[in-house]
Amino acid sequence: CGIVGYIGEETASSILTDGLNKLEYRGYDSAGIALYHEGDINIYKQVGKLENLEELVAKEDPKGKIGIGHTRWATHGKPSIPNSHPHTSCNGKFVVVHNGIIENYLSLKERLQSQGHQFRSETDTEVIVHLIEEYYNGDLGRTIQEVIEELEGSYAFVALTANEPEKLVAVRQDSPLIVGLKHGEYFVASDIPAILKHTNQVYILDDEEMAVITKEGVKVLTVNGELINKEIFTVDWDPGMAEKAGYDHFMLKEIHEQPESLRRAISGRLSNGNSQVILDELNLAADEINNYERIYIVACGTAYHSGLVAKYLIEDLVRIPVEVDIASEFRYRNPLVNDKTLVIVVSQSGETADTLAALREAQDRGAKVIAISNVVGSTIPREADEVIYIHAGPEIAVASTKAYINMLIVFYLLTIYLAQLKETISEEEIKRLIKALKQLPNQVAQIIKDSESEIKRFASDYAEYENAFFIGRSLDYAVALEGALKLKEISYIHAESYAAGELKHGTLALIEEGVPVIALATQNSVVDKMLSNIKEVQAREASVTGIVLSDEDEVFKSLDHTIEIPTTEELLTSILTVVPLQLLAYHVAVERGCDVDQPRNLAKSVTVE
Ligand code: G6P
Repeated sequence: CGIVGYIGEETASSILTDGLNKLEYRGYDSAGIALYHEGDINIYKQVGKLENLEELVAKEDPKGKIGIGHTRWATHGKPSIPNSHPHTSCNGKFVVVHNGIIENYLSLKERLQSQGHQFRSETDTEVIVHLIEEYYNGDLGRTIQEVIEELEGSYAFVALTANEPEKLVAVRQDSPLIVGLKHGEYFVASDIPAILKHTNQVYILDDEEMAVITKEGVKVLTVNGELINKEIFTVDWDPGMAEKAGYDHFMLKEIHEQPESLRRAISGRLSNGNSQVILDELNLAADEINNYERIYIVACGTAYHSGLVAKYLIEDLVRIPVEVDIASEFRYRNPLVNDKTLVIVVSQSGETADTLAALREAQDRGAKVIAISNVVGSTIPREADEVIYIHAGPEIAVASTKAYINMLIVFYLLTIYLAQLKETISEEEIKRLIKALKQLPNQVAQIIKDSESEIKRFASDYAEYENAFFIGRSLDYAVALEGALKLKEISYIHAESYAAGELKHGTLALIEEGVPVIALATQNSVVDKMLSNIKEVQAREASVTGIVLSDEDEVFKSLDHTIEIPTTEELLTSILTVVPLQLLAYHVAVERGCDVDQPRNLAKSVTVE
């Protein structure tokens, strides 16, 4: 879910809806705002996309210079007007917007109901606003300090009361929240894009911190009421980075931005003469690396897929065993982690709840944790022992593209760096890899230029399918998983990815005439094996699209479609191979009339378990 709040001299409704617009990737099944005006709090809510709320607000033109807003990704209770935020107390004097889950809400609700509170929604959030009403002691901040003693779970919430109208109180526990500072105007938000257009000066609240915001300024306190001298953080993103810039969708813009975002990730991380990788942000000595018996990479979704590629790289070049784990599995699995384990957590947003919990679990077991993330100052990088930022710039489309590719480039850099320290590869090899790595941004640009119109053309065939299979071997298999995820999440075509050698052990039963198979064949060491697997599916009359290095081979010539990618080091191909798959997913989804940037049921940043 996304939260915004405003207090200042401007009309709050437009600032709030504009902020929600920038946060829509966090959830978009309903939205609402609450505004204080001349003694009353007025609420406007709509189910569905934010544009419904924007229309309502445009029609009603509500007054008020203080307000809070919310865009929802449903957890407790279906998308509906009563379940959407802001939630109101019985007397209508208190309102709250919340992100997270109050785990003990049922017992709190029963107690409040027995005290006479009438509930209007099925949400866990509503208990917060009733508790505030119940405990109100004339000071919203102090009241909330009492309320949160009752709450279990994760939350970020912002409250407003008609009793003290010049004030917003924001609290954070395990869900992100920032306060934007501009002279005489203050903003609250779950994430930076919501306020970037107004200010780049922010307080990033930590867990168990709260902000009391008035027109006079912002006080940051611990939840026990002790004043904190909070440092102001300057965001270095340019406001234009969070706009569509003429593209039809953020996803398309982000695909096209990849050459540039790769360059940003490489920049400053190679020595003069390109003979070494420099990761100054890491504090790792050779002794320490030699001490590690195992590396765990833990993440969710696309970030998890970047870890699957990294396993091949690190095991090949650094010769340390690597396990890649889904964060929600790792944290509950009694993992074999101790001080001889290096744990790498990967998260674009830096806020994914399961990944954060996995990080904490690993640290509790004595492991050092390196975070790979995109959002500077987000929770995961702040809690990790070491951080490498991927510098992809804001990623708005729910389906990740440029963050994935930048996670990969950072993994390449990290792998070479670890190999340098451990002396598992020669200087010549390092130079060769770095030389190839530096060409990747231009090669990605070339793939987009050469293949997009062709992919767009055959995307219309794919739009008709309800199932698709992705196959590959070695690194191509890891990328195939990401290709299938992209197609699934934005076009709603059921897509599966298989290690090509595994097909014959079951999945081949599903291959029949016309079934689309996307075959990735960019790994020279196993290309002959791939050719056999392609023949196997062709023999069952599948319709095969190949992602290949060159279509010279007779088998490749016989495919229904082929996309050639430029030659690079075998280990580096993944960054190139994924690009046609991203473009395919995008154009198929557009062809099917899907909502590309905000696919149904998904959200970009999942701060609940
Ligand atoms: C959500 C998004 C995915 C993303 C995953 C992990 O499910 O929809 O695109 O890969 O979270 O997000 P993170 O921010 O931790 O990389």
